[in-house]
Amino acid sequence: MAVIADGGGLVRILVTGGTGQLGRPVVERLRAAGEEVRVLSRTAGPDVVPGDLRTGRGIDSAVAGADVVVHCATDFFGREELLARTLVEAARWSGGPHLVYVSIVGVDRVPLGYYRARHETEQVIASSGLPYTIQRATQFHALVRTLLAGATRLPVVPVPRVSFQPVDVRDVARRLADLALAEPAGRADDFGGPEILTAAELTQAVLEVSGRRRKLVPVTVPGETFRAYAGGGHLAPDHLDGEITFARYLAGQPDAGVLRYRER
Ligand SMILES: NC(=O)c1ccc[n+]([C@@H]2O[C@H](COP(=O)([O-])OP(=O)(O)OC[C@H]3O[C@@H](n4cnc5c(N)ncnc54)[C@H](OP(=O)(O)O)[C@@H]3O)[C@@H](O)[C@H]2O)c1
Repeated sequence: MAVIADGGGLVRILVTGGTGQLGRPVVERLRAAGEEVRVLSRTAGPDVVPGDLRTGRGIDSAVAGADVVVHCATDFFGREELLARTLVEAARWSGGPHLVYVSIVGVDRVPLGYYRARHETEQVIASSGLPYTIQRATQFHALVRTLLAGATRLPVVPVPRVSFQPVDVRDVARRLADLALAEPAGRADDFGGPEILTAAELTQAVLEVSGRRRKLVPVTVPGETFRAYAGGGHLAPDHLDGEITFARYLAGQPDAGVLRYRER
């Protein structure tokens, strides 16, 4: 069973995806809390435990002895369920650590293949018989920026009539670290960014940081998926939890000043 931090014993934690954009701050937080943290990676390195959740290579020994596994790994090829099944299998053999899984707000509302796979993966975790916590989060700042930044190269920028609630990975990492050191919570309350902004407002922010001026043209995109986004299926309006706003995130990006300088 999972050992919960009580100020006494060290908690042994494996972070899958600990080399990724979310996993890195999760690892930092847990190490700063003094816990014993292992990082799983497909690539061997000095500070990682090698293993591949797709093939199963190295996973049994990576999971062995862990009290908690924070599962942040993702491969974007719709194989989320396979990765989770490999992890669950190894976790069962190793004595049943607490699984903390990060998912996405709206996986059961937005009819996107990637979301469906995430929803099925949640069910693999929830029906595993292992102690678990599932944390859904809204879209990360970097994803929203990437989605919108491409269009700003055009002279006239089409902006979909949707809103986003971008959240910073450092804020999500804080929540995941807290959950990892707490009792298994099942499905936790959703975790959202601090503001809900229209795509036009967010695009304007991206333009400002790069010093560009563009005309924005609102567009409606046809289809079921867009309708779900336009209806706010990916938002968590009751959970404006994060502290770091999109503007603050953009200002902290290493290329913010460079872009502004180039455009002058
Ligand atoms: N992006 C968003 O807006 C958003 C919103 C809510 C939730 N999430 C969820 O947050 C989680 C983390 O996302 P992220 O953006 O931090 O991902 P990321 O930066 O793309 O990192 C992916 C991680 O997965 C690991 N990985 C990939 N395939 C693997 C395999 N076969 N075996 C073991 N490890 C594997 C990679 O490790 P190596 O390359 O070192 O092996 C890497 O650390 C994901 O579950 C994502 O769906 C994302």
